[in-house]
Amino acid sequence: SRFVVAVDGPSGSGKSSTSRGVAERRGYAYLDTGAMYRAAAWLVLQSDLDSSEQELVSKLIEQADLGIGTDPAGPRFTVNGTDVTEAIREPVISASVSAVATNLAVRELLIARQREIIAAADPGIVVEGRDITTVVAPDAQVRVLLVADPSARVARRKNELGGVVGDDDVRDQVIRRDRDDSTVAQFHDAAPGVTVVDSTELTLDEVVDRICELIDQ
Ligand code: CDP
Repeated sequence: SRFVVAVDGPSGSGKSSTSRGVAERRGYAYLDTGAMYRAAAWLVLQSDLDSSEQELVSKLIEQADLGIGTDPAGPRFTVNGTDVTEAIREPVISASVSAVATNLAVRELLIARQREIIAAADPGIVVEGRDITTVVAPDAQVRVLLVADPSARVARRKNELGGVVGDDDVRDQVIRRDRDDSTVAQFHDAAPGVTVVDSTELTLDEVVDRICELIDQ
């Protein structure tokens, strides 16, 4: 039967690279739910709406055609036919995504879509986000909370950004998003049945190994 691996974690915990690595090794699909919230935030920025106009924002997103790629080798995302794969990684999106992600009607829409994608996956799927182990797929066969010390998360995020930005800027961004997302997920405690993996002292390969061991158990 379909195998679901749920991976939650804060910004810079390494959950995207880890989840893609696990999916590639196992021949599973890969769903980046953060990219869905980023695509929604991209659409809101394109519109003349402010994210405080919650009902209009959720209507806009409900009527949009979101293309959600699930290829772990390079998932692509489209909004109403426009490829936004690169655009949704821009700092302007990172700075505005939490405001869209805390809109409960938007969450309801995107979670329904996530569950459809999970249900259609064959033979398995790795799903990463903030609320996958608790809300989206609490019945997943493997549930992991990926954590790392803030200093390690800042270093990784800085690396992803190509090292052109200062430590303090990246630290501010990582810490600010933890705070902005604190209504979506709390990472201090894992829910019952969720395995905490601390990646601070582990390489990417070691974290992927660890999760593959959990799949094999
Ligand atoms: O850049 P980072 O890996 O931290 O974030 P992401 O996984 O791309 O997610 C971007 C944003 O989407 C998060 O900061 C949350 O505001 C939101 N998000 C969410 O609310 N629920 C999820 N399951 C995934 C992401």
